[in-house]
Amino acid sequence: MQIIHTVAELRARLKSEPNIAFVPTMGNLHAGHMHLVKIAGQHASCVVVSIFVNPLQFGPSEDLANYPRTLDADCEKLQAAGTSIVFAPTVTEMYPDFNAATNCLGQTMMISAPPIAGELCGASRPGHFDGVATVVMKLFNIVMPQFAVFGKKDFQQLFIIRELVRQFNLPIQILAGETMREPSGLAMSSRNGYLSIAQKSAAAALNQTLKHIVQQAQQSDANFNTLEQTASQSLNNSGWQVDYISIRSAATLLPASAKDQQLVVLAAAKIGNTRLIDNIEFPASLNSLR
Ligand code: PAJ
Repeated sequence: MQIIHTVAELRARLKSEPNIAFVPTMGNLHAGHMHLVKIAGQHASCVVVSIFVNPLQFGPSEDLANYPRTLDADCEKLQAAGTSIVFAPTVTEMYPDFNAATNCLGQTMMISAPPIAGELCGASRPGHFDGVATVVMKLFNIVMPQFAVFGKKDFQQLFIIRELVRQFNLPIQILAGETMREPSGLAMSSRNGYLSIAQKSAAAALNQTLKHIVQQAQQSDANFNTLEQTASQSLNNSGWQVDYISIRSAATLLPASAKDQQLVVLAAAKIGNTRLIDNIEFPASLNSLR
């Protein structure tokens, strides 16, 4: 496995690779990331994993400075998983026009994500998906993979990346990995490391709540607004601060309507200072009220 820090070196190394599968990450790798690496290995002989904490996708009051950076441990895991190349650029290498000291964009050019990126997570994280789309576009242009793997855990992100590929005609096949979970059902996340032991066991309630909504939503008289509100109240009452719980079309991410066949319930909520997200896809029942 090679660890490469510059665009020029990576380009030179990848020139002769006919078949590349790419997994973009921000590092602090867990079993969720490794699941994506495994999928990548099933699709191409050369697996490239990027590790880059992207300042453009963090809001001013978010955890950019504290985000866990564990390059050595990450590389050990990736080597054991048969990764060909780790690309770990500096901020200046990725964004020569960005001032990392002041977090100032300068003349940095960005992608403007579509309006759906302003809903759900985007509503409380303005500009987040512009930052994600920009870094992923750059990484795609640098790595030029045939395949790229993303996790369903970040369902809205996956949707926006698929739109990026479709709307900018990128010749890349996007593969989606299922959400890897703790035995309690808690979705694995680098941010789970911020949780105390007590918070971590309480955090399982987020997934349990979503499972409960799915059960209820599949009953013929289900009213989605009521389900969303009741679930939010019950989490808030047990010490969470719910950002949103929303049942949406899995195909468009717009609010669920009668014609949708596949739905997804998505949620974001804070436990203490840690913001967690989760979602579950499910088939629509014919008679539910939306
Ligand atoms: P990061 O949070 O490191 O996640 C990298 C990839 O791992 C994403 O595709 C994410 O959906 C996936 N992932 C995270 N937790 C997972 C889990 N429990 N099960 C399965 N997959 C999981 O997402 C990002 O980084 C960044 O926004 C990035 C796309 C790298 C752009 O900066």
